Amino acid sequence: MYVKSLDLKNYRNFEKLSLLPDPGINIIYGGNAQGKTNILEAIYLGGTTKSHRGTKDRDIIRMGEEESHLRMHIIKADNDYRIDMHLKKNKPKGIAIGGIPIRRAGELFGIVNMVFFSPEDLSIIKNGPSERRKFMDLILCELDRIYLSNLMQYNKCLNQRNRLLHDIFFNPKLETELDIWDEQLRNYGSRLIEKRTEFTESLNETAGRIHQNLTGKSEILEVSYEKNTEISDFADKQNKNREADLKLKNTSAGPHRDDLCISVNGMDLRIYGSQGQQRTAALSLKLSEIQMIEKAANEKPVLLLDDVLSELDRDRQNYLLSSIKETQTFITCTGLDEFVKSSFNADRVFHVVKGGIE
Ligand SMILES: Nc1ncnc2c1ncn2[C@@H]1O[C@H](COP(=O)(O)OP(=O)(O)OP(=O)(O)O)[C@@H](O)[C@H]1O
Ligand SMILES: [Mg+2]
Repeated sequence: MYVKSLDLKNYRNFEKLSLLPDPGINIIYGGNAQGKTNILEAIYLGGTTKSHRGTKDRDIIRMGEEESHLRMHIIKADNDYRIDMHLKKNKPKGIAIGGIPIRRAGELFGIVNMVFFSPEDLSIIKNGPSERRKFMDLILCELDRIYLSNLMQYNKCLNQRNRLLHDIFFNPKLETELDIWDEQLRNYGSRLIEKRTEFTESLNETAGRIHQNLTGKSEILEVSYEKNTEISDFADKQNKNREADLKLKNTSAGPHRDDLCISVNGMDLRIYGSQGQQRTAALSLKLSEIQMIEKAANEKPVLLLDDVLSELDRDRQNYLLSSIKETQTFITCTGLDEFVKSSFNADRVFHVVKGGIE
């Protein structure tokens, strides 16, 4: 799969942009604040309907303008998909595929697969559990629409239950209503736990293999799923925790408290890993994401590398670049020096200056 063209109108600092990328490696270079990340963001938005930064549509619209337009052509298995997005200030965005409006953003998910890689991803081991859950959920949602829907339902129930815990504080009679939400959380939560269990097993295998190659077989990486509760103990745990939940007005049992344990040679990297070890393991996880999406979708995803090359040493850079052959890749950087030195060949180079391409 690859992006054949991207057209933007009033998107962030671009009044107008037409980009014709190569199906291979595309370098987008330029000074700071010229619009490099904005281009990657637009491609990701075009493929997933969401900004990788989590920005609201109204903030993406070029300052002083009312609307923003994006058009992207994706070629996949000889089909040409035209994706149109119309961003508005106070309304949900309009999305059409081949000129036919779609109602749910999820309809795009089966068509386009993208992986966004930014320097923050290299901190996934160092950061808190929520980053690791996000990593897991993002991949699972991209590959499995039912998971996406279960996760949304689960989060909705969780919010309702937390709100109820606040209300009970003022009106203790409401406590009986907790049972309904507990049951709903078990219902959706168990499905999340099942899928995360499968996912972690497959991630462990893929990341383990990649990490061995990346470290010249000196490190054995293992990923394990640290679930907050077993499905069979879920109800018990909810009952045991209820009093504490009422006191803290927060829900403590369930997969929203899950984590991933990443260890090297038996040592938990979250606690004992050196910075370099943590970053190398994070790279293995990210490379696993690419492979797992490719395997599940039977198609190479489009890869967006925002400023990550400069964050990696020469060996890691080479490993990354050698593992993305035949994958359409967009790489942003501030200078071209790093590529002149390496044996690596870019297929197309774009120079971004003040919201335009030179
Ligand atoms: N809605 C908007 N309207 C107009 N300009 C915007 C909007 N949102 C962001 N910008 C501007 O876009 C510019 C470019 O941002 P971008 O993140 O793409 O830079 P960059 O080239 O990736 O820089 P860096 O090398 O520092 O990462 C910024 O100066 C920012 O102020
Ligand atoms: Mg940037």
